[in-house]
Amino acid sequence: MNMVTISREKCIGCGLCVKDCPAGKLKLEDKKAVYTPSCILCGHCVAVCPKGAVSIPEYDMASVEEYEPGRFSLDPEQFLRAVKFRRSVRNYKDIPVEHEKLERILEAGRYTPTAKNRQACRFIVLQKELTEFKKLLWEEIPQLAEKMKAEMPHYAMLFKFMYRNWKKDPADDALFFNAPACLFIASEDPLDGGLAAANIENMAVAEGAGVLYSGYLKRIISASPALLEWLGTDNIPLTCCMLLGYPAVTYKRTAPRKPADIHWR
Ligand SMILES: Cc1cc2nc3c(=O)[nH]c(=O)nc-3n(C[C@H](O)[C@H](O)[C@H](O)COP(=O)(O)O)c2cc1C
Repeated sequence: MNMVTISREKCIGCGLCVKDCPAGKLKLEDKKAVYTPSCILCGHCVAVCPKGAVSIPEYDMASVEEYEPGRFSLDPEQFLRAVKFRRSVRNYKDIPVEHEKLERILEAGRYTPTAKNRQACRFIVLQKELTEFKKLLWEEIPQLAEKMKAEMPHYAMLFKFMYRNWKKDPADDALFFNAPACLFIASEDPLDGGLAAANIENMAVAEGAGVLYSGYLKRIISASPALLEWLGTDNIPLTCCMLLGYPAVTYKRTAPRKPADIHWR
């Protein structure tokens, strides 16, 4: 549909939407804003209008929140501290993540910007069916490792090693680390998935949980049509696999880092 509608009654002809529209699809006619289809529905016109005169009928307009001075403030010191103190979690408490928390965590992914405002990330959350998926995945490892042997001998050896350990003791799980939940993101543009993942992680931390991005899981699942089919990625590339749960470890300080490779010009 790709439509923006403007209430002629509410529009005061201030032109703020016209100025802010990245597509140049709005103009003033007889002191009223007028829209010419079509655009990427970024919603800037909705957000900037001082009178709430603009809507996008295909979105849920009831979910639009009003700006309240002072309520949106991200303290820079606190934010940087949060970035420094987040850690990859490889040791989880044996408790599930509450559904309402998962919903809020995913909301941070949903509101993350996407190229061309595509909003086409698919988020797949596994908690109830995680045990079934883990079993399928581990059982596929020997044959996937065989397939990887020629092109990725290092990974083939590593995954076989992990498999042998898991076979001996299923608690020795170097892929899922006994996390209670997994979150997968499929997206045509890898940056869309990556940006959503970063906001999801920050929100998870704000909710008292933590994540581990798993390049290993992404590699394994991406090499397996059966696992992709089970997850329901619908041929959209898998761009992020993350484990999610409550950390069973407390870090007492930040981890040191190399100096950043910054080129000031
Ligand atoms: C894209 C990506 C993939 C990763 N894949 C794995 C993985 O497969 N297994 C693992 O144990 N850690 C994985 N990590 C975690 C990194 O090793 C970790 O971020 C790094 O050692 C720094 O530790 P920190 O995240 O606690 O700061 C991954 C991290 C990123 C960003």
